[in-house]
Amino acid sequence: MKIRVPATSANLGPGFDCLGLALAFYNDVVIKPSNSLLIDVVGEGSDRENIKRDNTFVKIFYEIYEELVSKKDNFAFTFINNIPFSRGLGSSSSVIVGAIASAYHLAKVKIDKQSILDRALKYENHPDNIAPATFGGFVVSIVNGNRVIKIKKELPNNINSVVVIPNEPISTKVSRTLLPKSFIMKDMVFNLSHSSFLSSAFMSENWDLLKYAAKDKIHEDKRMSLMPELFDVRRVAQENGALMSTLSGSGSTFFNLTYKQNSKRLCEALKSSFGNFKVLELEFDNNGFVIFDE
Ligand code: HSE
Repeated sequence: MKIRVPATSANLGPGFDCLGLALAFYNDVVIKPSNSLLIDVVGEGSDRENIKRDNTFVKIFYEIYEELVSKKDNFAFTFINNIPFSRGLGSSSSVIVGAIASAYHLAKVKIDKQSILDRALKYENHPDNIAPATFGGFVVSIVNGNRVIKIKKELPNNINSVVVIPNEPISTKVSRTLLPKSFIMKDMVFNLSHSSFLSSAFMSENWDLLKYAAKDKIHEDKRMSLMPELFDVRRVAQENGALMSTLSGSGSTFFNLTYKQNSKRLCEALKSSFGNFKVLELEFDNNGFVIFDE
């Protein structure tokens, strides 16, 4: 089998741990029966030996597969990785969602996408990346006990994203510990109102209102000060046709949304200002993960 899982961008400014969307940029994993456990990595991570020794996908896969079939089978895993690690593009959620869905598929146990998402919450306790990785589109999700409750909106094809990917990673775990434990009322009201407004703008396709909504007082500036060039990325993006420009997840990537007709210009402006960063023009994904039988 092969599973393809999209990259994601979470938070979208004020929607901390709640809002996310899927990008047409994918990790593929090919899994075949084998006489012994084999792991091969192509693309991102192929230069890291420890990914073969200590592989999170393989660990989660076997935890679930063995629970379902009550025996150990060997497989050969080939990871074709495009999503860079620790850059806020959902590489961890692609691993988690991909491993759970593949384990059920190869164990021949039927499961729906909602139940896969609920299981994924055990491995990543905020749903803003795992929900769009599962369902695609723009997803608003909340946690209720050990379930994710979500509303998905398919994204139309008159908008595009332009992502700016620095070489340096920012670890989500570490950067979460740097955030304050409590916030003042004024900032909470700011984020709640902007996050509600942003969701409504997405749902009603009012793209021109995003520039008012995509602002945050909880995490962005604190995280961006770890890599101050990101303030320039936001400014240049806003000056060159970005309808919104936000830190992607916990960074270090910057996510920009633009009308499709402006996307090339925005991409070129960002490339010429930030030659040391990777700039990609990406469409949105509305499917979430997909499994192909090889
Ligand atoms: N919402 C998470 C955070 C990142 O900002 O720490 C996305 O998984």
